[in-house]
Amino acid sequence: MANKHHTQTRTEPRRHSKESRNDVQDLLKRFAFVPLLLLTALLARYLLSPTPTTLTETVIPAPVLPNMAHQYSLPKLPYAYNALEPHISEQIMTLHHSKHHQTYVTNLNNALSSYTSALSTGNVPAQISLQQAIKFNGGGHINHSLFWANLCPASSPDATLAAAPKLGDAIKRTWGGEAQFKEAFETALLGIQGSGWGWLVKVENHTGERGRLAIVTTKDQDPVVGKGEVPVLGVDMWEHAYYLQYQNGKAAYVKNIWNIINWRTAEKRYLGGQDESWSVLKASM
Ligand SMILES: [Fe+2]
Repeated sequence: MANKHHTQTRTEPRRHSKESRNDVQDLLKRFAFVPLLLLTALLARYLLSPTPTTLTETVIPAPVLPNMAHQYSLPKLPYAYNALEPHISEQIMTLHHSKHHQTYVTNLNNALSSYTSALSTGNVPAQISLQQAIKFNGGGHINHSLFWANLCPASSPDATLAAAPKLGDAIKRTWGGEAQFKEAFETALLGIQGSGWGWLVKVENHTGERGRLAIVTTKDQDPVVGKGEVPVLGVDMWEHAYYLQYQNGKAAYVKNIWNIINWRTAEKRYLGGQDESWSVLKASM
């Protein structure tokens, strides 16, 4: 009995201790999420509570500036400076391309940079005053880029209207023939007062004139933009284009320019529309 009793008195506390441990373990398992909950609460409080700021800690957001202005570059000539001789001298071509056209590009880039700055600071008077410089130098860049590409050496097979069959047909339909077209174009070129450009354009507006050819002139460096007109070929009638060689013989310059018109380029512009005409300009961006 003593042993039994002893056994009972020894085994009961052990069983009780084991049950207690099990209870504690159950309790720990049941509330195992509590530390995680506390941690989550602390993290949420940290993230959601307003951060105290002082003057020195306040971050002033940088102004949102417009994109940097595009920078244009002088397009390379598709032929050598002396390639258009004897109709346009190497001296004229060198100065005309490397000096005159380069100046338009440089001034256009400067004007666009200033305009971008004026936009970022909300300087409206400066924005307005820069528009003439952008128009003049941008027009100079556009016009000369188109002009170089619609010229070629007289020896090239592209220098005859036969290289532009579709355009040639349209010219004949419009003016009655190549000779009549050239006469009308020369009259328009020689009628320009002061500096400007003569253009053969394709009308692409929505007035029912789609595809119609026309001869237009523009003053100074005004480009052929708007009115739905696609420049097909252009002739520079500024004195810098001919004076060193022809002096006051403007009519001789106009007569000789026909020897070096790149009709293949004109055909592409006629068939391709605005995108084809401006491709040479996009290439210089
Ligand atoms: Fe020019």
